[in-house]
Amino acid sequence: METIQKKITDVALQAQDIRLAAQYIKEGALVAFPTETVYGLGGNGLDPEASAKIYAAKGRPSDNPLILHICDMAQLEGLVVEIPEAAKQLAEAFWPGPLTMIFRKAACVPYETTGGLETVAVRMPNHPVALALIRESGVPIAAPSANTSGRPSPTLAAHVFEDMNGKIPMILDGGAVGIGIESTIVDLTEEKPMVLRPGYINRKMLEDVVGEVILDPALLEVKAEVRPKAPGMKYRHYAPKAELAIVKGAPEAVAALINEKIRQGKAEQKTIGVICTTETLPYYKDGIVKCVGSREHEEEIAQNLFRVLREFDAQQVDAIYSEELNTPMLGWAVMNRLGKAAAHKVIEV
Ligand code: TXA
Ligand code: MG
Repeated sequence: METIQKKITDVALQAQDIRLAAQYIKEGALVAFPTETVYGLGGNGLDPEASAKIYAAKGRPSDNPLILHICDMAQLEGLVVEIPEAAKQLAEAFWPGPLTMIFRKAACVPYETTGGLETVAVRMPNHPVALALIRESGVPIAAPSANTSGRPSPTLAAHVFEDMNGKIPMILDGGAVGIGIESTIVDLTEEKPMVLRPGYINRKMLEDVVGEVILDPALLEVKAEVRPKAPGMKYRHYAPKAELAIVKGAPEAVAALINEKIRQGKAEQKTIGVICTTETLPYYKDGIVKCVGSREHEEEIAQNLFRVLREFDAQQVDAIYSEELNTPMLGWAVMNRLGKAAAHKVIEV
């Protein structure tokens, strides 16, 4: 299959391309599209065969449910049994935006989309191309991140092309995404709202709107016995090909250890990758050093993380060491992704 890429800079001017993409969705084919978090791999969320194509294209285990993307609140009503009060408040505050909510599903939502669960994940993305595509398709669009299962989520259309070329008919290229890590997931089917995956909307922002919010215990403990409620959270995700370790401690001590690893690596003809920040960049004089941004501008770190992990794959480094990126607002979400990429390998200095 040939994969066509269309650059969309203005949805009104390029209505024809959006119509063609929507036509693919209506016919049961897949289209990758930009959202404000990461690129999604979309199909008709009410069509079990389209969902099956999504799992096949990603190589994703079929017990890992998909998120339905909607363009307005009227669409939500048809997909869920009820909309709890807290969900209405969160939607009012954060939709369209990087928040996914879990509801009890209506009968029209196929089990193929929800991985066999009685609940369904729904999100209204804040991106003009995504919203135009959903509206034009007339159906909720099921979309996981548009990466091959296990690879870092795509933040550029070029990343989608790397993973999906030849597997899907069309990629809508909306340029670089704004946020760079996937949406916060909140479960509203329990007594209290529960965060299943951290994201740009942090706990404090949620609590300011709905009062107490609890955390899935699996987010705090990375033991195999603690099963995450979001099935996808159990997989080793976002993994670069080289082994990655996170180094924790005072910046100078962290840099000293990483520099020592670079020296050792060199002696063995190995290339070492480093993930650091603007503030610590001057500490590193050797190795393949990538700065993800400044600790003073945490958004940069989220935006760049997955791209940097993909670049290390292309450069075929032998091992990667990353500083801990525990910034105040986004640090939890960023470290959740980095921790998975590292299979939770942490060196404390
Ligand atoms: O930002 C995002 O959310 C992106 C963009 C494309 O919207 N999408 C995304 O989808 O990250 P995906 O498939 O990569 O991650 C969906 C996560 C998985 O961890 C899955 O297990 C969880 O949502 N999930 C989906 N439905 C669920 C449900 N009914 N109950 C619990 N977890 C659910
Ligand atoms: Mg994903």
